[in-house]
Amino acid sequence: MSDLLRVENVDVFYGDFQAVQQASFAVPDKEIVSIIGTNGAGKTTLMRAIGGVLPAKNGRIYFEDVDITGWPTHKIVDLGISQVPEGRKLFGRMSVKDNLIMGSYTPRARKNAKGELEKVYELFPILKEKSTQSAGSLSGGQQQMVAIGRALMSEPKLICFDEISLGLAPTVIKDIYAKVRELNNGGITIIIVEQDVKRSLKACVEAFVMLKGKVVLSGKTCELTEDEVSKAYFGM
Ligand SMILES: Nc1ncnc2c1ncn2[C@@H]1O[C@H](COP(=O)(O)OP(=O)(O)OP(=O)(O)O)[C@@H](O)[C@H]1O
Ligand SMILES: [Mg+2]
Repeated sequence: MSDLLRVENVDVFYGDFQAVQQASFAVPDKEIVSIIGTNGAGKTTLMRAIGGVLPAKNGRIYFEDVDITGWPTHKIVDLGISQVPEGRKLFGRMSVKDNLIMGSYTPRARKNAKGELEKVYELFPILKEKSTQSAGSLSGGQQQMVAIGRALMSEPKLICFDEISLGLAPTVIKDIYAKVRELNNGGITIIIVEQDVKRSLKACVEAFVMLKGKVVLSGKTCELTEDEVSKAYFGM
């Protein structure tokens, strides 16, 4: 199977501080991969580099064999990579609908915004009911749905989910993960960033463990042992 995304030897800096070091990993088309690691391992920074929010200082990033290194975010979104960012980054005082529409700001997406909005409402009917309410007034789980819906508005081929379960109740997390699988079944390739090793190991997916800015272990989660992952995870 071909890889949809390839990250090769990427370095990312905040000023002089190197948060990602020589990171390499690939995401096969139509698969779910998981990136796990403790606080500060560099997971979010790597997602930001893929989304063009932060520059990759060295290394290359390829999407569908196109070298997108250094591309601005809007072009990357237009090509088919969407982010559900850590902390959701919604506009709390804007309506649910307007938050969703924000996701269709690229030229390709703008044309289909109406149809895409209906699809999001089909996936998350509660968002249709609450479309005129402010996003900030919604529950945590519903806000996560808005963040996912916004990412879908640009008709992505790849979605990067950063800590989607953080702060949510277990039943809500289950629902959100079911939706992620539904999207994957519909043909969308998925990157899930997680701190929760146990949850990651349950789904048999390709996983990459990050530690101190580096990808230190990779393999199918069903083939990696918890011990192996824990050692890589904590650097012991
Ligand atoms: N805006 C920033 N400026 C400077 N340093 C930063 C900034 N954001 C993150 N860092 C640092 O970069 C490193 C990687 O952070 P990052 O947020 O990518 O980790 P993470 O794996 O996503 O962690 P978490 O699980 O807590 O979300 C950390 O040492 C962090 O302190
Ligand atoms: Mg993070």
